[in-house]
Amino acid sequence: MNKIKHKTYLPVFYLLLFCSTGIALRSSAQEPLAKMKDTIYVKGTKIPAAIGAAGQEAEILTPKPGPVPKINGPKIYGCRPGHPFLYRIPATGIRPISFSARGLPQGLRIHKETGIITGQIQKKGTYRVKLSGKSRYGKDTRILEIKCGDQINLSPPMGWNNWYAHYERITDQMMREAADHLVSSGMADAGYQYINIDDCWMNAQHHKDLGRVGRARDAIGNILPNSYFPDMRSLTNYIHGKGLKAGIYTSPGPTTCAGFTGSYGHEAADALQFAKWGFDFLKYDYCSYEYLEKKIRDSLPGITSDQLMKAPYLKMGYMLKSQSRDISFNLCQYGRNDVWVWGSEAGNSWRTGADLGPELNQFFEVALKNAVHGKWTRPGAWSDPDYIQIGYVGNTNGMGLPELTRLSPVEQYSFMSLWALLAAPLFYSGDLTKLNDFSLNVLCNAEVIDVDQDLLGKCASVVSKTENTFVLVKELEDGSRAIGLCNKGETQERVTVKWKEAGLPDSSMNIRDIWRQKNIGTAAREYTAMVPTRGVVLIRVIPSLKK
Ligand code: GAL
Repeated sequence: MNKIKHKTYLPVFYLLLFCSTGIALRSSAQEPLAKMKDTIYVKGTKIPAAIGAAGQEAEILTPKPGPVPKINGPKIYGCRPGHPFLYRIPATGIRPISFSARGLPQGLRIHKETGIITGQIQKKGTYRVKLSGKSRYGKDTRILEIKCGDQINLSPPMGWNNWYAHYERITDQMMREAADHLVSSGMADAGYQYINIDDCWMNAQHHKDLGRVGRARDAIGNILPNSYFPDMRSLTNYIHGKGLKAGIYTSPGPTTCAGFTGSYGHEAADALQFAKWGFDFLKYDYCSYEYLEKKIRDSLPGITSDQLMKAPYLKMGYMLKSQSRDISFNLCQYGRNDVWVWGSEAGNSWRTGADLGPELNQFFEVALKNAVHGKWTRPGAWSDPDYIQIGYVGNTNGMGLPELTRLSPVEQYSFMSLWALLAAPLFYSGDLTKLNDFSLNVLCNAEVIDVDQDLLGKCASVVSKTENTFVLVKELEDGSRAIGLCNKGETQERVTVKWKEAGLPDSSMNIRDIWRQKNIGTAAREYTAMVPTRGVVLIRVIPSLKK
């Protein structure tokens, strides 16, 4: 445990606290925009139109990836020295594709047919790797900067979490099937990587399903999975075998939110166990820790509310960093005590609010709130507004079987647009076996994902706002801006963004419809779109090249 020396992780105060408490630490509305605003200058025959339809049919906006290889995914990847390295090159195109990587650091190798890179980098450093994918249809290359140092998750983590699909029905078999589907659906080719188990993999003292009832721990204190998870190591091996990563869940309290065994008093043993099992991600859900608060206050009378909240997260963060593998750490304490301010001291991402499931119609509000705290978002440290809930998601109130989401098609585009603008972790939490072309279109648009994964790691900020509309602007690494013209109201609204507000010069800009992956014209000074109800028009504004 003392191998890692990090002053942030062991302030004297927390040492004291650990000891004394035992808490060892979204137009095809197609209204001619030129009619609306004479500041739009259109090149070519087409009038600029962005996404969205006043109707609510599930229109697929994005052209399907072609047969030619196209490499997707982040442009930067963080890892720690001496730890197992695993990266599956996300790529579309008809397979077989022959993958290669020029400039791979020593210790790494690539599997030509799958594009899975494995191994271990011993030496800290920044390595510029040229990834290539070649097939009989063509070739693509992409530069990936591998930064071997102290930080991981240099772009927002992406994957799938089982919660809103399976709740307390989760099994090893479902996790394996999820891994299969992540690959066969093409989601992994768009960059989704983690397959994460949520609550209910351990034993409970009481549960209607007796297969989930049993001893919390073995004789030496190791946490015991329930009968639906017979072999965790075999499960992570299966997931890793596909080039994907595996995630797990626990609580700093004695029990999880669903009443299963938590890690309280066993933090070190559990962190070690998760690492030994081969997990790459941990969600740490506050829940029953709440009931310990009084006990801790009584034993440490001077303790502040911030100190009390931070302690269990700093502790587990430290434990995870001490393991011999990279484990992404997600703080789940519903945005209490301004977690965005200090979350990065403990981990890599932090939930900013309550569960979005039961209040799914609140996603615009959640996005607005996240944007307010946007300045805390940066590479390695991400505000997490909860999971993407489109397609078939569980009936959240009754923890029921997956049903078609209550969100309209327009809202589903909006959801994804907002999450990308926020540089949010992109975790789909719905039934992977029921994904149709529409849901996959929403989840897998490579240009939308590029906005999310942009190298700068910036969260969009609100540059203008009315009662129902607002404009979000996200600065991108190439000097362009991803812009969301948003309407959370019940009638369509005209929304304008001025270049000045977006931090751009008052000159001609190229405008790209990100969802349709089409250039839609040029405009000087500003851009206006008719935004449908509950819609987001997502554009990229790119300074025009001088002729
Ligand atoms: C909640 C958490 C959810 C899910 C659930 C499991 O506290 O916010 O995302 O993990 O617990 O019981």
